[in-house]
Amino acid sequence: MEPTAAGTIVDRRSMVSLMSRLRASRGQADPYPIYAELRSMGDVLPAPWGGHLLLSHELCDQVLRSRTWATFDAEWRARQGEGNRWSAPASRQLSKTLQGLNPPHHTRQRRSLGNVFDRNTLTGLQPFVAQAVEDLLDRLSGQLRTNGEADFSALVGEDLPVATIGHWLKLPQADHALLRELTHGQAYAQELLPSASQLAQANAAAEGLREYFTAVVAERRRSLGDDALSNWIRTWDELEPDREVADETLYHLVMFIVIASLETTSTLLSNMVWLLDQHPRQRAWLLDHPEAAPNAVEEVLRYDPPIHLTTRVATEDTVLSGVRIARDEVVHVMIAAANHDPDQFVDPDTFDIGRTAAHLGFGGGIHYCIGAALARVEATELLQGLIRRFPTLRVTTPPLWEPRMAFRRLTALHVAER
Ligand code: HEM
Repeated sequence: MEPTAAGTIVDRRSMVSLMSRLRASRGQADPYPIYAELRSMGDVLPAPWGGHLLLSHELCDQVLRSRTWATFDAEWRARQGEGNRWSAPASRQLSKTLQGLNPPHHTRQRRSLGNVFDRNTLTGLQPFVAQAVEDLLDRLSGQLRTNGEADFSALVGEDLPVATIGHWLKLPQADHALLRELTHGQAYAQELLPSASQLAQANAAAEGLREYFTAVVAERRRSLGDDALSNWIRTWDELEPDREVADETLYHLVMFIVIASLETTSTLLSNMVWLLDQHPRQRAWLLDHPEAAPNAVEEVLRYDPPIHLTTRVATEDTVLSGVRIARDEVVHVMIAAANHDPDQFVDPDTFDIGRTAAHLGFGGGIHYCIGAALARVEATELLQGLIRRFPTLRVTTPPLWEPRMAFRRLTALHVAER
């Protein structure tokens, strides 16, 4: 039993039942009533497996921005011993990516990338994204003509992000399917409670990603151009005298940028179609106001963000909202629950494309998403294309969700013109 900020006593066993509901297929389809139940029990709740869940917007935001909280880096993972999820190869691989680094290593690597999606880069990418959207919508149109129905997620949602990042980093189109598959596998390593088989898939994917991106860096070295990766290679050759260390860093950087961009953006794109379908009056209004597409995208990111939670570790003994947390203990920052906090958002469970309040869908603090602007461009371009070309597109069956708690993924979303 553990006292919470609200003064109530929370039994870890009642948490177990709520967490099981969250992992079940109904919970995956709609976890928000469960998040609300959790929030009613307190802002800081004991997780059944140790550590705590943070439910309020204020606390989640505070932890993401505070230096008292670190990401679980290689040293923390090593302190957890051998033979557990933290010692799995997929987990070790993540500990060397931006997401697994703390200052000063994180600062050095993040700075080395430069201002990744500045206005110039986005302006340069926009025509490509616009054309990719047209091509994918042609494909959707063809499939709808032939079959009367199509899986939007497989056909469009999963393809636009890999086409865009592949174009930007000059990764051959023939490799895109492989990259999608490896990313799906590696995402299990970032899951809250991965099963043994999920971890095995993540480990296999980690090995595939290592082979692929090590080769990409080596090949790019042989023919440097004016692309982002070539520029990072030049930067690291100046920063790091040891070529092997530079190449190892470059492989982790470029690999993580690719995997961080795929699954997340795909979920946003499919979720956008699903949520607007569920709110036909707002969808109809958008048909006459395509200029409001960026706002609609933002509300999708708030209402059901692609990443539902991320985790941090206490760097010292501390107290959060009256709850004592020891050094090295983890807290799960429940981004999606924070995005529905009534103290932050009016009518938080109402999907409303007219709202403007800031959400935590892209995280916060030093690990704030570097690809937020690109994801917004892709989603806005696609939404405007859909409004223009498919005004009567409707979802025919509710989506299927991958059974995961951290990284949302729609595995199918069937649509037809009605
Ligand atoms: C809708 C799409 C996306 C969502 C919802 C999203 C969400 C997030 C979130 C929540 C974080 C912070 C994780 C944490 O604090 O632990 C993050 C970090 C990151 N994202 Fe995204 N992301 C998206 C798209 C992208 C894209 C398109 C790229 C790259 C082109 C990208 C690259 C990254 C990278 C490299 C990080 C790590 C930054 C760091 O640790 O310093 N993301 N993202």
